[in-house]
Amino acid sequence: MNKSQIPAAQKEVLSLLLDDHKKVKKLFKEFEAEKDDAAKERLAQEACTELSVHAKIEEEIFYPFLRDQNPKAFGDLLDEALVEHASAKELIAQIQGSSMAEELYEAKVTVLNEYVQHHVTEEEDELFPKVIAQKIDLRDILTPLVQRKEELLGSTAVA
Ligand SMILES: [Fe+2]
Ligand SMILES: [Fe+2]
Repeated sequence: MNKSQIPAAQKEVLSLLLDDHKKVKKLFKEFEAEKDDAAKERLAQEACTELSVHAKIEEEIFYPFLRDQNPKAFGDLLDEALVEHASAKELIAQIQGSSMAEELYEAKVTVLNEYVQHHVTEEEDELFPKVIAQKIDLRDILTPLVQRKEELLGSTAVA
C-alpha cells in the first residue's frame, strides 16, 4: 500500500499501522538471515513485543472504531482479523516462553511470520482500502493510538 496515495482523513493512522507492519517484516527477515543464536532470539523476541503491541492497539482502538462506524461494512473482516490475531498471540506466547535452545523455536518463528504475512496482506489489501472507500475519518483516533502504543512499549507486561 502506497502511503502517498492515502487521503488526509486516513493518512496518519494508516501510516502508523503500515509502519508497524514494515518493522515486523524487517525483524522477521533479519531473524532469517542471522546466524548467531543469541541475536536470533533477540530479534524474535523484539518481533513478538512489536506484534503484541500492534495487535493490542488494533483490538482496543482501531477495530472497535471501525465496527462502530459501519458494522455492516466491517463486521466480517474484523471478526476474521480477531481470529487471526488470536492464533498469532498463541504462538507469540509460546515463543516468549521459550528460547533458541528449544527444538521447535525456529519453526515457531517461521510459522508466526507466515501467519503475520497473511494477516497483514489482508489488512493492507482489503481492510485499509475499504476504510478509504468508506471515507472513515480516522483523525480522532490518532492520538489514542499513539499514546496507547507508547504506554504498552514502555511497560514490561505487553503480552
Ligand atoms: Fe491486525
Ligand atoms: Fe495490523
